[in-house]
Amino acid sequence: MRRLRIRGIRLRLALALLVVVAGSLGVVYLIVVPSLEAELVNAKLDQLEEDAQTVARNYATQVGSEQEFAERTASVFQARVVIYSILQNQPFVFGDSNTSASLDVARDPVAGTATRSRVLERGTVNRRGRRFAEVAVPLENEGVVILLSDSLADPISSLKLIERRLLFASVIGLLFAVVAGYLLASLHAKRILRLERAAERIAGGRFDEPVVDAGNDELGDLASAFERMRGRLGKLDRARSEFIANASHELRTPLFSLGGFLELMADEDVDEETRREFLETMREQVDRLAKLATDLLDLSRLDAGRMRVEHEPVDLAEVARVVAAEFSALAERRKHEVETVVQGSPVARGDEQRVLQVVCALVDNAITHTPEGTRVTLRAWADREHASLEVEDDGPGIAPEHVAHVFDRFYRGEGTIASGSGLGLAIARELAQMMGGAVTLESQPGRTVLRVVLGAAPTSVTAEPAESVFT
Ligand SMILES: Nc1ncnc2c1ncn2[C@@H]1O[C@H](COP(=O)(O)OP(=O)(O)OP(=O)(O)O)[C@@H](O)[C@H]1O
Ligand SMILES: [Mg+2]
Repeated sequence: MRRLRIRGIRLRLALALLVVVAGSLGVVYLIVVPSLEAELVNAKLDQLEEDAQTVARNYATQVGSEQEFAERTASVFQARVVIYSILQNQPFVFGDSNTSASLDVARDPVAGTATRSRVLERGTVNRRGRRFAEVAVPLENEGVVILLSDSLADPISSLKLIERRLLFASVIGLLFAVVAGYLLASLHAKRILRLERAAERIAGGRFDEPVVDAGNDELGDLASAFERMRGRLGKLDRARSEFIANASHELRTPLFSLGGFLELMADEDVDEETRREFLETMREQVDRLAKLATDLLDLSRLDAGRMRVEHEPVDLAEVARVVAAEFSALAERRKHEVETVVQGSPVARGDEQRVLQVVCALVDNAITHTPEGTRVTLRAWADREHASLEVEDDGPGIAPEHVAHVFDRFYRGEGTIASGSGLGLAIARELAQMMGGAVTLESQPGRTVLRVVLGAAPTSVTAEPAESVFT
């Protein structure tokens, strides 16, 4: 079916070419043949007219009978010569070089017209299925009309020959047009077929084979567009598979751990203290699963474009205080010092819940990925355009080879504690971007700063000149 359709294109293109060529040849034929015929007849008449005038001049000085004059003149000018005498305004044959057929010129229309008009007349007449060119010259003084008549058979047969040649050339031209059209169309049809196959491949989920077309035309452009689409879809497909593999892996770890503890508790006779320890670990795993489920849900919403964020004023000082308070118990347990520094009244434009989520992810990192006793500082400020909240710690920092990847989904630094799934920073960055902002990172041993930068709300109050804040 598909092949037939492509062939249809070839056939249609070939037919289109055929129609165009046939049309042009038809027009040429219609214009050239009649005008050529008129040219030939005119040339013949011009020649006859010239001859007729010479004959008229000679007639005045003629000696002998009209019949003799007609015959002599006819042999000189290679044309039939008829001399009419005018009686009562009608021509009567007086002498005719073609004696055997004088009757057929008795009522010759050209001679008749010249007799009445008294001026030279020219025209063509048909006699017994043949066409003749004729010129009639009236000689009023003599009371005669001299008619020169010559057959048009020669020029017309030349014309017929040209017509036949033209027809033959047209047929050859048309055949050539069909074959050339078909071959040319085949070239394009092949390229279209290749593109169609490539589209089918991509639709079938195979992104490995590139879409190639060297043509520098619209089809070439279409192929490049297909190639770009293939690259993008391939990337998305790989990202999707990686995501599913990572997510399944992250889900499996706490589930296996939970299963193991459940079995231990069911099989062995554990004392009360061990049981409590087991339960504590199981609770941590359940928390981890719950966090993972929430993160995965957030990611799927972000990917599907279903994450809605508000663009309302968010007091960053308040956010810093709330988050610091939320983490105070955990920080205390790990012997971290958490400090909050606010300059002016920084108010950002964003979604309060999402800003809280982002800052929590940053503080969580500063507490979980640093050794005990690390100092964590939450600093909030604003300039005329931006409101920022940064989380700084004096931990060992992130190794330069990891810096480029910490915002990737499921990316965890080496030696990082196993509880995280590597989604915190990825989600934080995407949420900040949705609010029109960004999350930036600066890290060196002894100082790591993760900063959320959002647009400043009009109610924001700058504490110091903007330049001094950013230096
Ligand atoms: N303040 C920090 N100090 C040192 N390393 C950090 C810090 N913040 C992030 N990292 C590194 O960046 C990695 C990615 O952080 P991210 O928050 O995305 O994932 P995670 O904390 O491992 O897991 P999750 O946040 O999903 O629980 C971490 O695994 C850690 O190695
Ligand atoms: Mg984290």
